Amino acid sequence: MNAVVLLGPPGAGKGTVAEVLVDKGYRHVSTGDLLREQIRLQTKLGLEAKKLMDQGQFVPDEVVVGMIRSLMESSDMSAKFLFDGFPRTQIQAEKLDELLQSFSGKIDDVVLLECPDEVIVERLSGRRTCTKCGAVYHIKYNPAERRDGCDMDGCELMQRPDDNEATIKNRLHVYAEQTAPLISYYTEQGLIHPVDATMSIGEVRSAVLEKLG
Ligand code: AP5
Repeated sequence: MNAVVLLGPPGAGKGTVAEVLVDKGYRHVSTGDLLREQIRLQTKLGLEAKKLMDQGQFVPDEVVVGMIRSLMESSDMSAKFLFDGFPRTQIQAEKLDELLQSFSGKIDDVVLLECPDEVIVERLSGRRTCTKCGAVYHIKYNPAERRDGCDMDGCELMQRPDDNEATIKNRLHVYAEQTAPLISYYTEQGLIHPVDATMSIGEVRSAVLEKLG
């Protein structure tokens, strides 16, 4: 049970890159998507998480690690995970190492999507997401071809509640404080592959595929 980690600030394009890696046999695991599913189902966990997510704060480590543990326990030993938005704190990174070791696995690579704050603000303010299937678009860089909704299922596109200016600023602040230190953690282990995420979607995807060889 091995893993690749997609690391990078909110809106750097982790989900957009993950789409092509799924075709290469990776199992895409986005903790943001898992939490949004809990919100949709209106579970106790989802309702608690929503309050934090709407403010751009992190959900507690034990909640997120618990979700990943359950997922690993119910997965095939040959699974190749692609973690998007996890780990996000030092504790989560250490717990992930422990969990993978307990399944005789390890992290093979960490792809770091590097993107300055001003690009992120533009990407997140222009992001639109399908209310049904979660497909991600951008009003300028990746618009839906249909004028009235999602290209996949025709459903309405919406703006995520945490994609407003105040929450974006807070998410960037929390990233700098709590997640950016993981860059040194993984650099020391020789796992980091930096990618310039300011390039076009196609160029970023190709660069990531090249790094993962
Ligand atoms: P999460 O859903 O993980 O949000 P995030 O990390 O803030 O990342 P995003 O999904 O916003 O962005 P992305 O990098 O995937 O970019 P995307 O591909 O969509 O987490 C949300 C919240 O959940 C957190 O704030 C926290 O509260 C909680 N949470 C989640 N995980 C947690 C954890 N482990 N611990 C604790 N709490 C956790 O692209 C963005 C836009 O840009 C799109 O419109 C896209 O079309 C466009 N775009 C992408 N690439 C390019 C490009 N190269 N050029 C032009 N446009 C591009």
